[in-house]
Amino acid sequence: DEELAARITASLRDIPDFPEPGVLFKDITPLIGDGALLTQTVTGLARPWHGRVDAVAGLEARGFVFGAAVAVALGVGFVPVRKAGKLPADAVGVDYALEYGTARIEAHADAVPAGARVLVVDDVLATGGTAAAACRLFEQLQAEVVGVDVVIELAALGGRERLPERAVRALLTV
Ligand code: PRP
Ligand code: MG
Repeated sequence: DEELAARITASLRDIPDFPEPGVLFKDITPLIGDGALLTQTVTGLARPWHGRVDAVAGLEARGFVFGAAVAVALGVGFVPVRKAGKLPADAVGVDYALEYGTARIEAHADAVPAGARVLVVDDVLATGGTAAAACRLFEQLQAEVVGVDVVIELAALGGRERLPERAVRALLTV
């Protein structure tokens, strides 16, 4: 939907040199602070998935905002994918490479039953490292990742290429 993409574009606030020099940060707080646009964004993320998913996974932290709302829109449960060490019960994890060093994300071992159809939701697809790790995480749980749904895809960083065979969908590609 080009109109929605234009509205999202207009709402984003570009912050130069955050969180470090040379990075142009796309601030989504104006988007989520606008009730009408937040509703349209969540509706847009959910639109193709009604009746096609058993759970929505949101990636800490910004993916929680959109993921939980998409889960409500679809009438399914929400699974938090957390940074290492935050989950209280038995968890499974995936380590993945960052530009410098590594990171680890985790989900509860009983978050979804085997065979569950999981939609992964996040705010931004950049290098794709986080989303690819989330897909591996749900495969460890014998679930089926049916799609990766993001608000913004930063195409120059090649995230889509790190997710071959995945249905990657973005409301806005920049
Ligand atoms: C950002 C963003 C995505 C991820 C995208 O999260 O919210 O989750 O990076 O980058 P990638 O495609 O290169 O993996 P960040 O780890 O900065 O944390 P936050 O969501 O907790 O702010
Ligand atoms: Mg994030």
